[in-house]
Amino acid sequence: MLRVLVLGAAAGGGFPQWNSNNEASQRARRGDPAARPSSQSSVAVSADGENWVMLNASPDIRQQINDNHQLHPKIGVRHSPIACVLLTNGDVDHVAGLLTLRERYPLAIYATGRVLEVLRANSIFNVLNPEFVERRSITLDEGFEPRTKDGTGTGLRIVPFAVPGKVALYLEDDAAGDNFGTVEEDTIALRIEDTKSGDYFLYVPACAKLSSGLTSQLDEASLLMFDGTLWQDDEMPVQGAGSKTGRRMGHMSLSGPDGTLAAFADSKVKRKVFIHINNTNPILLSDSPERAAVEDAGWQVAYDGMEITI
Ligand code: MLT
Ligand code: MN
Repeated sequence: MLRVLVLGAAAGGGFPQWNSNNEASQRARRGDPAARPSSQSSVAVSADGENWVMLNASPDIRQQINDNHQLHPKIGVRHSPIACVLLTNGDVDHVAGLLTLRERYPLAIYATGRVLEVLRANSIFNVLNPEFVERRSITLDEGFEPRTKDGTGTGLRIVPFAVPGKVALYLEDDAAGDNFGTVEEDTIALRIEDTKSGDYFLYVPACAKLSSGLTSQLDEASLLMFDGTLWQDDEMPVQGAGSKTGRRMGHMSLSGPDGTLAAFADSKVKRKVFIHINNTNPILLSDSPERAAVEDAGWQVAYDGMEITI
């Protein structure tokens, strides 16, 4: 059995974002039940209910651990059910939480060579004392079992695969042309399988465009968790919240003829959930017409604390 626990459903910035004064953020701050606050993008998964693999480490990780009993220390004076952390890209919303996991606790961090190089090049990540925290490189399209620092297996099999995306914002190279120096290992998706049952789900928190590597695994999947950053490609400029489009940020948007709702309309995947949702996206509001539209199309919108069992 796979347990999938949403720690943070929102994209970078969270909802409400610290400097956002849009109507949705005001409603969230007022405690409006239709505008439920969300922390930043992260999921925990477990095959045994004891050892948890963190998919990304968001800046909100401390609160996410405190809010979810599954991740509370259980044994002795120092303990954590977190066996390891797997990074799908080097974005701030996915790596900054590593800094909270210091304090000489044995952990393993899995990432592509490209993302490990980002951590290596920034000495602040050395607060994760290498004597205690091992960094393990993963290879695209090669399955592996995530393990604790001491080598205990988690009962999961994970296959990382590249999806179209963009290099982390702070690494963009304007001189490198249209793709800002993006390489394949910058944005990965994960196929996460329960080794006992063979059931699997796909975790795709960032994706710029559908690819055959993704669609070929879709119909047999028990669950798809997919990039829900923006409702509409130009929603940030339209709302006056920033100048960038979804395309520019490496995210496909939900609506329109090229959008995610249209792209997955015929897929046979059993369950579809949007995650990594930006604070400008009206699907965060449970009373919006856009939320009704995604639900009519068979999608659910993730929320902090959502638990899915496969
Ligand atoms: C993204 O998902 O596009 C990034 O997290 C944006 C950012 O770094 O703020
Ligand atoms: Mn992000």
